[in-house]
Amino acid sequence: MNYRHAFHAGNFGDCMKHALLVWLLRALQRKPAGLFVLDSHAGAGRYDLAGGSAERTAEWRDGIARLLDDPPEALADYVTLARDCGLYPGSPVLIEALLRPQDRLACCELHPEDHAALRAAMRGGGVAVHRRDAWEALGALLPPPDGLRRALVLVDPPYEAEDEFARLAAGLARGHARFPAGVFAAWYPIKHRAPVRRFHTAIRESGLRDVLAAELWLREPLDPAGLNGCGLLLVNPPFGFATAAEERLAALLARLGAGEAGQGFAVERIVDE
Ligand SMILES: C[S@@+](CC[C@H](N)C(=O)[O-])C[C@H]1O[C@@H](n2cnc3c(N)ncnc32)[C@H](O)[C@@H]1O
Repeated sequence: MNYRHAFHAGNFGDCMKHALLVWLLRALQRKPAGLFVLDSHAGAGRYDLAGGSAERTAEWRDGIARLLDDPPEALADYVTLARDCGLYPGSPVLIEALLRPQDRLACCELHPEDHAALRAAMRGGGVAVHRRDAWEALGALLPPPDGLRRALVLVDPPYEAEDEFARLAAGLARGHARFPAGVFAAWYPIKHRAPVRRFHTAIRESGLRDVLAAELWLREPLDPAGLNGCGLLLVNPPFGFATAAEERLAALLARLGAGEAGQGFAVERIVDE
């Protein structure tokens, strides 16, 4: 395990994922019934952007740094929450900040140092921190505990392994088989188009229904070595997701895009309801 999220925290991919994550949580919390959130690849929880690893890549300077002052309206909820969290929050800290007393969060992180940091970052109430394999957890931690009947599952792997897209498609199918009513959100990098096309085909062939993909490109995805864009695949998207995602992607592109050829965004239906 070489990937450390500390080098990438706050980059445009994080901003896209977290802006949509915050919308998803708010949408699912419109109902008073408790929600179970599973963050399968949770990372370290909090990151010091101004020091150490993040400053070495400085990816955050082209990401969250450009949103903090005067955030566009569509991103204001997410940016305000991130700012209120203090030290830059990863997905589990953002989720914990929105957790209601009736909700539960389970987060998994396999890397020993990041798991220890995550444990220290989470305050406790309603939160379980596991050091376990995410792909195994998608089967083992679903359906939700404590009689909860709704779930949001964030799947955010590091894409170190050659077969990560295939593992993701299989993991989503496994989780969905355990809890078909769950909302599944899976982040993926867009370096060039071929792996993403293969992933969407695998999803179509998996039998999953009601799948959307929200994608943001900062440039034409032609260079397999660069993070040219990113996507969030949604299984069972809540009502209004497509419109909300388009608003957020447009705002992200306006602030983070450099006007390069091929930049853009889209929310595409991958599988019908
Ligand atoms: C992209 S980062 C997660 C970032 C986090 N979701 C956020 O948005 O703040 C992926 C994390 O997954 C962890 N990881 C990698 N393989 C894993 C596995 N099989 N099970 C659990 N965690 C894993 C890595 O150590 C890394 O911290």
